[in-house]
Amino acid sequence: MSKTPDNRTVLVAGGAGFIGSNFIRYVLDAEPGVRVVNFDRLTYAGNLQNNEDVETNPRYRFVRGDIAAEPDVAGVFAGAGIDVVVNFAAETHVDRSIEDAAPFVRTNVQGTACLLAHSRRAGVSRYVQISTDEVYGSLGEDGAFAEDTPLHPNNPYAATKAGADLLVLAEARTHGAPALITRCSNNYGPMQFPEKFVPLMLANAMEDRPIPVYGDGSNRREWIYVDDHSRGVWDAVNKGRPGEVYNIGGGQETANIELARMVLAELGKPETLIEFVADRPGHDRRYAIDCSKIEREWGWAARTGFADGIRATIDWYRTHPEWVRGVRDQSYRSYYERHYTHRDRTLTSFR
Ligand code: NAD
Ligand code: DAU
Repeated sequence: MSKTPDNRTVLVAGGAGFIGSNFIRYVLDAEPGVRVVNFDRLTYAGNLQNNEDVETNPRYRFVRGDIAAEPDVAGVFAGAGIDVVVNFAAETHVDRSIEDAAPFVRTNVQGTACLLAHSRRAGVSRYVQISTDEVYGSLGEDGAFAEDTPLHPNNPYAATKAGADLLVLAEARTHGAPALITRCSNNYGPMQFPEKFVPLMLANAMEDRPIPVYGDGSNRREWIYVDDHSRGVWDAVNKGRPGEVYNIGGGQETANIELARMVLAELGKPETLIEFVADRPGHDRRYAIDCSKIEREWGWAARTGFADGIRATIDWYRTHPEWVRGVRDQSYRSYYERHYTHRDRTLTSFR
């Protein structure tokens, strides 16, 4: 029996992470007939608490597994009637990739190759690879990344994401796979793991701990509220063309130090909490995204303004201290101490 767009089964790899869990919630809400299989290895960044609100939904199922492990991937496809694959699964933190690139190569490159091969065998109608603006490298003071900007990844995370993108494009070209790529700017919102800048600032400042700002804080990022990204990814599933790349960006560009000041002001905390610490090696100077292609082709536009998005994010972290406590486990604390000790001793306050 052929399926309509309304009763497809979507395999979401990495659906227990920050963006994947938001995407699952978005799809189950927006599409009353669509089924979701959440396939996640549950690394330190994967957390089933992020899926608590959908776990009793009859159209939702969780399967624990590793996208780079052949038997796990074969197992999740077997008899599941998967129509669409959306791959969020990745090692995602730049600083950890600088410490050790091996898990990034394994998951981001080998894992993508494995998912692509099984998607081909299963004859899926759509494969969407969730990529990042980091594959384009770093910008000068002006301009923005377009889809045809040459790839120039500058850190191991970005290099492995670029490698994965090339595999996806090769799959579309060589095997005629219905595969495409989205590349998004920096996301923020509820349930983001507090190793990333925004949730790290929130979690620390709420407890009057210092917030570490790399270098002089003048590096710039473009921010997008996670809901807007999820809506763009679902558009990619339904409106994207095979073999194409689509940029997604929130249009909210700011220097890190301005963002730190804005967060502290919203929290009612003093700027004296800011600690300038040693810079990230190879720190990309500036990211900005030209997403006119999806505005034109899909009618997509970001809907959440920066101030509203930051306020909603702060509200969530304020009302979920137990989530923050839960994820700041022993392995988080030892990462934090390992990573920040050589940057500034006063920051290592978790003992
Ligand atoms: P995250 O670190 O919060 O979540 C990653 C998820 O992938 C976790 O649930 C983890 O358990 C899972 N995972 C890791 N390795 C796996 C494996 N081998 N097999 C199965 N599951 C595995 O990441 P995120 O911030 O939600 O990012 C999701 C995707 O979006 C990534 O591909 C990332 O590169 C991309 N992206 C993120 C941002 C951002 O600002 N966070 C921006 C653009 C693109
Ligand atoms: O641009 C998309 C990318 O955004 C995603 O592909 C990545 O998965 C995601 O982690 C993010 O990468 P960044 O390196 O830009 O995000 P991060 O939150 O680590 O850092 C944001 C900026 O803040 C960056 O310029 C570094 C700076 N920073 C970060 C941390 C963790 C600090 O100043 N202090 C910190 O402690």
